[in-house]
This record gives sequence, C-alpha cells and structure tokens, in this order.
Amino acid sequence: MASLAGRSIVSIKDLSKEEILSVLGKADRLKINPEPRLLEGMVLGSCFFEPSTRTRLSFETAMSKLGGKVVGFADGAVTSAKKGETMWDSMRIIGQYVDVIAMRHPLEGAARRASEATNKPVLNGGDGANQHPTQTLLDLFTIRECQGRIDGLDIALVGDLKYGRTTHSLAQALTHFNVRLHFVAPDSLQMPDYICEELKNAGVEFHIYDKMEDVINEVDIFYLTRIQGERFPDQMEYERIKNVFRLKKEMLSDVRNNLKIMHPLPRVNELDEKIDDTSHAYYFEEAQNGLFVRQALIASVLGKI
Ligand code: CP
Repeated sequence: MASLAGRSIVSIKDLSKEEILSVLGKADRLKINPEPRLLEGMVLGSCFFEPSTRTRLSFETAMSKLGGKVVGFADGAVTSAKKGETMWDSMRIIGQYVDVIAMRHPLEGAARRASEATNKPVLNGGDGANQHPTQTLLDLFTIRECQGRIDGLDIALVGDLKYGRTTHSLAQALTHFNVRLHFVAPDSLQMPDYICEELKNAGVEFHIYDKMEDVINEVDIFYLTRIQGERFPDQMEYERIKNVFRLKKEMLSDVRNNLKIMHPLPRVNELDEKIDDTSHAYYFEEAQNGLFVRQALIASVLGKI
C-alpha cells in the first residue's frame, strides 16, 4: 500500500480500499487512545469558502487535540478573494505558511485546483455538489461501528442524491464492498447517471425508488440527506420539493431491529426530531466520529502515523 504522506485527498477515488481501511483502523486507535502530542509544531490551514459547522470544527478540533495549531477563515469574504485574488493564488500562498490544508468551496473542482496550486496536502471538505471524501470516511467508520461490518448490508441513500455530495462520495466508496444499495429520491433529484454507471461497472446491485416507505423496512442503514436548496437553479422547484421528503417516527414501526438512521447533517425538514431518542438514531455519533477520522487523515497525510 502506498503511503498517504504528502498526498491530497480531493475525491474518495484518490484512496484504494486498502487505504480507506487503513485510515479507519487509525481512527479506531485514536478514538480509544488519544495522542495529544502527535502533531506538535504542525499547522493546519482551515480554508472554508462556504458555511460549515461539523466539517470545519471537527477538522480544527482534530488538529488541536493532536497538539497542532490552526489558522484560517470560515468565510472567503474576509480574505483577499474579496479584492479579486484568485483561489489558485490564495492557496499557493497559504500552502507556504501551513503544513496541511482543509478546504471547502462552492465550486466543483475547486479542491483539485487548489491541490495543484500548492505542494501541501489538501483535504477536500466539500466542493459544490461534487465530492465530500472526509465525510465518506467517517460514514464508513460509522457504518462499521454501528453494524459491526460493511459487507452484506442493505444501505439506502435517501433525499437529494443529485446535489448531495456526501451521497456521491459514499456510493463510490461502497463499490469496494459487497453491499446492496437503494436510492430513494424524487425523480428530479435521483443519483446522477455517471455514478450509476460506475456502480454498474463495479457490479454493485442498486435499486431506485421515489418513496421512503418503499424501502425503510428492508434496510440496515438509512442514510438520509437534506434537500440542498442552495444548489437549486430554480427556488420555486426547491419550495415544491422541500417538505415532501420527511422521515417521521411513525414510519419506523416495522423496521429491522438493527436499522440505524444516519445523516451527514445539518437537517432541515427531512428528519423528525422525535426520532432522536429512538434506538435507530445514529447521526450524532456519526458527527462525533468525524473528529477521530479527521485526526487519522491529517496525521496520515503529514506522515506522522
Ligand atoms: N456534514 C457536513 O458537511 O456538515 P457541515 O456542512 O456542517 O460541515
């Protein structure tokens, strides 16, 4: 297996199955045994050109808890981008100050472009509707944690599969495993054709539905996502769809005992808060796992673990 040291992770496809499992194994160890001095003297550049709570704060906490320091911004409008500096120039400069960069940007392909501007590792915290590979690593970690395995599971990806970058990365990562996928979305928000083609080529069984009720009783993981209003070209279309997809507690009466509901969060209307206290809710644990997985990934690309 090639070392992750010095490498950018822009797409989940930048990692082989072996490399993914290696990061998850390191995250397992860091969850049990914290390493408060592992990254002493190292600096993370936290460059968020788009809003974030979990991704930014878990990256920054991950670095701090490993003994490293963090510089950065939570809004591109407070940087010289506001004066017209290109993202390429900004990332080239920031890469001269820090050891590793975590970034989020509204444009698809921005993280790849940033990784070409600097020789420091760039970790993509989400680029438009394209990819969210660090979310996928924590999602795989969480699936394995709550089910004890990934192979053999029925996994539903639900909600906005068109614009939801977490579902794109996760579906691609699951081509490494022996799973059955179930895509549940309004017709206009179904999984893009290029991902379906990749799944077919990889021999992954998948099925398409337009109602949650058609699949909720048949799966082990129900991975629900928010309708991504900010990416709709037509806000009227968003208003029409946004309240249609909603998982309610009453819909859990006949589900499998081991069903876990995951969600990358934030939630808006699609996930009933009454579900939080059921044995099926696992989204808060999922968000917490982001800390350990991002610790493992930062330490890996810095060649320290
Ligand atoms: N899951 C996720 O990406 O959340 P944030 O947008 O809060 O970072």
